[in-house]
Amino acid sequence: MAGIRLPPEDSDISQAARQVAAIDLISDDDRSIAADSWSIKSDYGSTLDDEQRQADAAEALSSAAYRAASDYSSDKEEPDAEAVSSMLGFQSYWDAAYADELANFREHGHAGEVWFGPDVMENMATWTKNVCLEISQRNFPNHVDSTNCLPAGQPEKDLSGWSILDVGTGNGLLLQELSKQGFSDLTGTDYSEAAVDLARNLAQRDGFPNIKFLVDDILDTKLDRKFQLVTDKGTLDAIGLHPDGPIKRIMYWDSISGLVASGGLVVITSCNNTKDELIQEVEAYNQRRNDGSREAGGNQDAAGRDAVFEYVDHIRTYPTFMFGGSVGSRVATVAFLRK
Ligand SMILES: C[S@@+](CC[C@H](N)C(=O)[O-])C[C@H]1O[C@@H](n2cnc3c(N)ncnc32)[C@H](O)[C@@H]1O
Repeated sequence: MAGIRLPPEDSDISQAARQVAAIDLISDDDRSIAADSWSIKSDYGSTLDDEQRQADAAEALSSAAYRAASDYSSDKEEPDAEAVSSMLGFQSYWDAAYADELANFREHGHAGEVWFGPDVMENMATWTKNVCLEISQRNFPNHVDSTNCLPAGQPEKDLSGWSILDVGTGNGLLLQELSKQGFSDLTGTDYSEAAVDLARNLAQRDGFPNIKFLVDDILDTKLDRKFQLVTDKGTLDAIGLHPDGPIKRIMYWDSISGLVASGGLVVITSCNNTKDELIQEVEAYNQRRNDGSREAGGNQDAAGRDAVFEYVDHIRTYPTFMFGGSVGSRVATVAFLRK
């Protein structure tokens, strides 16, 4: 399951990951060890089929955390936060990865890595559209539909009101998929300039010139507008792999809370956290905000709570597998409502 970390394997990579956790700069050697061992980079000349590469890519995020932590020999119940880190938590890693992908795009026209694979991406886009349609019907009292059956043309009308921000968009393919589902106000951001360059080129080539892409760090965002829907596929996972991951995850939720309009949605796809772990993280964030608000004398509801996000639903159709007696899926997608 997302969150079931695969068993540790002897590999150079855990050593490389620890080294990089200690410093903010990554040497070319470390980076190429990581890319080769984890199949992060698309291996265009390899005999690996796409499915295998996608499985490797998803495993990279989860096993990166696991391997670094597993090498931390201690009798503590929880590994130190510092130990759960890898080079995927650093911007320098992504800058180099997307510079390679951009070069491959220019030379061969390849789109690069589809994180977690095209099936997850398509599944996520269709599911997200359906959740948005449901929310639209619930939120807009003047909605003409009083049954569960939408009149012809209504879904497109409902979706046109949804502005979307995809944070850590990478090659931006998720936004292309959401555009195919009928969304039209689409923006992707990434802190890596090369990723944004790649995403723009791909969108132009593939016939999606309306999608906007901007360089922006979600932990220090310069965006000054709110969106109805914020999507994240693998970005919170990457942020959590920084040595300061726990603090950065709180900063992440702070930033997201300012970017989603009230009544809007956040849809997170992760391979490092289960659905339950994501819900717990959001509840802890709500609690923290609630405590802060109480100290500042803020307004609270009758129960004395100030929830920022509320769990809405999660994808139940990802393939599952059995590990250690538990059944789970490699990836979790969860939607939260911004109150
Ligand atoms: C695992 S990749 C996923 C990329 C893309 N969402 C996809 O599904 O293909 C993580 C992405 O998050 C981006 N990222 C990580 N930390 C970020 C931050 N603080 N601000 C913006 N982007 C970030 C990386 O540059 C990278 O593109």
